Amino acid sequence: MESQNDKKEEIGDLIEKEQEIQHLNNPVDISIKPIVKQYLGAVKKVKKEGNRFYFSDGDARVEIRVVSDDIIRVRLAPHGVFLDDFSYAVPEVDQKVSVFKMQEHDDHYTVSTHAVTCKIEKANFHISFHDNITNLVMVDEPNSMHWEENVDFGGYYIFATKKCHPEENFFGLGDKSGNFNLRGRRFVNWNTDAYSYGWNQDPLYRTIPFYIGLHNQAAYGIFFDNTFKSYFDFGSEDVNKTSFWSDGGELQYYYIHGPHMMDVVKRYASLTGTHPMPPKWTLGYQQCRWSYYPESKVRDIAKNFRDRKIPCDAIYLDIDYMDGYRCFTWNKKYFSDPRKMIKDLSDDGFKTVVMIDPGIKVDDDYWVFKEGKEKRFFCRRSDDYYMEGHVWPGRCQFPDFTNPKVRAWWGNLYKEFVDMGVAGFWNDMNEPAVFGSGTFPNDVRHNYDGYRGSHRKAHNVYGMQMVRSTYEGLKKLMRNKRPFTITRAGYAGMQRFASVWTGDNIATWEHLKIGNIQCQRLSVSGVPFCGTDIGGFSGEPDGELFTRWIQLGTFSPFMRAHSAGDTAEREPWSFGEFFEDINRKFIELRYRLMPYLYSVFWEHHRYGFPILRPLVMLEQENISNSFRQDEFTYGDKLLICPVLEQGAISRKVYLPKGSWYNFWTNEVLIGENEYTVEAKIDSMPIFVRAGSVIPEYPVMQYVDEKAITEVALNIYHSDYEVNSYMYEDHGDTFAYEQDIYLEKRFTVKGDNSQLKVIQRSDGLYTPNYELYACNVAGLKFQVKKIIVDNKEIKEFFTDDKHILHFKCNKNFTEIQISSL
Ligand code: GLC
Repeated sequence: MESQNDKKEEIGDLIEKEQEIQHLNNPVDISIKPIVKQYLGAVKKVKKEGNRFYFSDGDARVEIRVVSDDIIRVRLAPHGVFLDDFSYAVPEVDQKVSVFKMQEHDDHYTVSTHAVTCKIEKANFHISFHDNITNLVMVDEPNSMHWEENVDFGGYYIFATKKCHPEENFFGLGDKSGNFNLRGRRFVNWNTDAYSYGWNQDPLYRTIPFYIGLHNQAAYGIFFDNTFKSYFDFGSEDVNKTSFWSDGGELQYYYIHGPHMMDVVKRYASLTGTHPMPPKWTLGYQQCRWSYYPESKVRDIAKNFRDRKIPCDAIYLDIDYMDGYRCFTWNKKYFSDPRKMIKDLSDDGFKTVVMIDPGIKVDDDYWVFKEGKEKRFFCRRSDDYYMEGHVWPGRCQFPDFTNPKVRAWWGNLYKEFVDMGVAGFWNDMNEPAVFGSGTFPNDVRHNYDGYRGSHRKAHNVYGMQMVRSTYEGLKKLMRNKRPFTITRAGYAGMQRFASVWTGDNIATWEHLKIGNIQCQRLSVSGVPFCGTDIGGFSGEPDGELFTRWIQLGTFSPFMRAHSAGDTAEREPWSFGEFFEDINRKFIELRYRLMPYLYSVFWEHHRYGFPILRPLVMLEQENISNSFRQDEFTYGDKLLICPVLEQGAISRKVYLPKGSWYNFWTNEVLIGENEYTVEAKIDSMPIFVRAGSVIPEYPVMQYVDEKAITEVALNIYHSDYEVNSYMYEDHGDTFAYEQDIYLEKRFTVKGDNSQLKVIQRSDGLYTPNYELYACNVAGLKFQVKKIIVDNKEIKEFFTDDKHILHFKCNKNFTEIQISSL
């Protein structure tokens, strides 16, 4: 057997060029040491502890942990001692497992569940994962797991290399610009304030070290739960290899089984959590700018929305509302009576959302700074000096949000604002961003919930812990009403605490494309509630670009227009009446579809489905779909084909399997085909899956403006059976956690002479309305009779667009429409 020394491969020529140069320039520097890569030897010992199996080469140990039937975690301890098992991303590792077992074979061991087998080869420690029914899914390259000691900070640089199959493709990683398919690229995760980023620029604001591999029509996922600066290479350096590595921490990853991409995404959500149900108003249109001030400007914006009858639910106050950019204060010159303004806005249906940054001004007369200083809550350097840096207020110190006491303190700072009626909070600059240096130096110390570490370890979670503190504080302060938070930076699992926007984009057609892909990517990476700065943050859109962005934004889970202060005004009416009318039409559409959007959110929250679903996820057997990256479905019923080209009046669309109704004309088109469809500026191609039931509300100027007296059910005939879901609840409480909600399932099936709609309900919530107004499209026969629960409905008519209209009680169980 190899000894530890045999394993240590001295690689003299791996002294990096940079170090050589440094050495020549500075001959007295004796800190240069050769990099020593260390590899696992042969398996010598095996031990079982519950659902954990330990394999050792005599020194290093590998833990294989059966997390669920479909998820297996792998960890490496280079010298046999694992780090404490703590993760900000995964609150609880173990899930339900039905049966699992370990077996020894001649040259390998297997650990298997009913779905997956993990094989560990005795001679070289290679690990592979196999689908129990079909075949090999993922396999190590020789010497896959290895490490190098970090002499400066302690710990290790850690590496894993897997085989990259010739036809394999990759998706995920959350916050990346560029093509949806990641094959052929290398990425780094280090949360960065990436003002005006470009196509393929990397890294950006968030770190989600999770990817989906797809080959042989089977998908699997890898979640490399490591908060240090991490890297992924998808066949870029070597077409035959996929690698991931990190500057520190533990080599720890979850293998997540498919075989469908949807399975992988849902299982990733079972590990890192889903987004709680948001306050319903947050699905409305939101208007932001850096900054709306003084108060008269804010009121003027609000008045314009109502006068022009453009629905809007929220107005944002960016940093200028503060006194010298001091968080939790007001600039009394601009806002003399904020409580009154917020109340008046609220009476008119507007929620006020304000910005809160992490940089706290160094000022002994400022209560937040004084408290933080007294409590010793600000971050400090390795030799105990405070971490200081310049941000908006000038010289600042920064709370250590990885300390639970700091989080509790910070969460409570929102009290006065909550009491005043502020409805949402926007946490920005939390990469953390520092002017000049970019971010904190590596030696800054963090509490890390007791599992201490340097900024190298805490950098990527800083923003997530900030917004977590905000969310948890608000939840208490709002007495269990749903908080609304939005964050710029984050780490895997951030969706449990916040919505996100894609940061400082640019008003260009290219950015419209980047944002479209970015939101889909965030969506399959576990972050559902995302959107772009509609219109672009920097630069100037023309009316056409702004309107196309509003159209895309209508189908972004988070819909907010935002722009930098040095740009021209950027409201839906800023480009003249022609564009204003189209913008209104689409924002109204958003409000009409509110019950659908809300129900899709529930499907995410409850079951882990992504809100936006890229085409390749719908038909993963057709890999060319991964290049058709500009279309997606919202939920699984609406196919959205945004127009991303200047001057376009039509566009090519690909329709996936099944039949699809053109949302505007009700024309039925057959899937697995490409079509060229009209897309003039006042329109954007949208298709509805045949068999869908899409609920609609009447247009309102803000969510819950009026009591709903009836809900429209748009029913689309289908020859095959299709289920649709509608979810309803109070809209702003957590009562849904106690089953106070209503989940309805509609099943539609028809043929050439009849159509049946069956309704089933689950849950304890009772909505106030009594009626459904049914609008049925695509009937292939002349309607003679409509029976609802054995009673004939006499009042119905078919309009000139061949839509059948009738009303019925919301509690129906079966509708039968027939030609007889
Ligand atoms: C950052 C944010 C931007 C905000 C600005 C001023 O650039 O990304 O959204 O408007 O700061 O607060």
